[in-house]
Amino acid sequence: MAMARVATAALMVAAAVLLGLAGGGHAQLQNGFYKGKCGANDVEAVVQGIVRARFARDAPIVAYLLRMQFHECAVNGCDGGLLIDGPGTEKTASPNLSVKGYDLIADIKAELERRCPGVVSCSDIQILATRDAVALAGGQPYAVRTGRRDRRQSRASDVVLPAPDSTAAQTVAYFGKLGLSAFDAVLLLGAHTVGATHCGAIKDSRLYRYGGRAGATDPALDPYYAFVYKTWVCPNAAASDGNVVFLDDQWSALRVDSNYYKLLQRHRGVLPCDQNLYGDGSTRWIVDLLANNSDLFPSLFPQALIKLGEVNVLTGTQGEIRKVCSKFN
Ligand code: HEM
Repeated sequence: MAMARVATAALMVAAAVLLGLAGGGHAQLQNGFYKGKCGANDVEAVVQGIVRARFARDAPIVAYLLRMQFHECAVNGCDGGLLIDGPGTEKTASPNLSVKGYDLIADIKAELERRCPGVVSCSDIQILATRDAVALAGGQPYAVRTGRRDRRQSRASDVVLPAPDSTAAQTVAYFGKLGLSAFDAVLLLGAHTVGATHCGAIKDSRLYRYGGRAGATDPALDPYYAFVYKTWVCPNAAASDGNVVFLDDQWSALRVDSNYYKLLQRHRGVLPCDQNLYGDGSTRWIVDLLANNSDLFPSLFPQALIKLGEVNVLTGTQGEIRKVCSKFN
């Protein structure tokens, strides 16, 4: 029985790889691109040291960076566009107003500029820092290719991100436009294994106005959880909009692990887009696979993050290497 399950899992993973999980990546990115380019400094070690120090006093940084990588790479690619300050930039678009972690990217950039000015791009710093934070939070370490350059453009009007109440089909279609498979999409939403949302994102859709009906609660939400949220966490008053709900079980909300998928099986996913992955047969099998084989997510999540991190990157002589991540040169 156990053998059969392992064999099925292996087959499904093989199918997922054939369906594009492994991905081709971007031809001009390289492993160790910065080797020998920053004097005697090991760029990746510098980044890792700063991320480690930050993680030690502020573990939720892993959630900030993962979300930042998504909001960065999904909009015109991983090009540093999200980091630019000023009116009308990507940062000012409403889904980005709650993105955090910019200060860490700025700190890393300042240190690298001190050691070797004009060498390391802000877009590479984002990808390296996320990678390091994931490993610190219990995820598997992984190598990333570097050599990205920063785009000289950042427009709020380009920011199109999925709504929190996206159906599984909408989520899969969204990631499909980025060149990512349904399997990648389910793996990437596994980033919700860390971090939190605000009650404002779930009050209408899940607790008080499901389907637009006043007083209706989403039947896909575990009734005990619905009770807890309504009674203590997100009471039905505007004042609770800013209250925080962990996306994974509280004890697991800072760990990169497969518990998120087990929650979905128990109808305890927090955002509608999370629970919808289990409600739809086309993605439920992936949720079941990742929930029932807890060593799969840790090894496959990095592959999906690598693919996300290589969406539409600038390389070679394209774009620029910014001096300060929040400003074009
Ligand atoms: C259909 C796709 C997705 C939707 C609709 C979605 C939506 C959301 C929403 C509404 C929040 C809460 C924001 C807040 O209240 O401040 C959130 C948080 C988060 N998202 Fe997603 N997300 C999606 C995919 C992803 C992906 C692909 C990643 C990363 C690979 C990601 C990483 C995170 C993380 C780590 C948090 C917690 C942030 C924190 O604690 O500050 N999400 N997401």
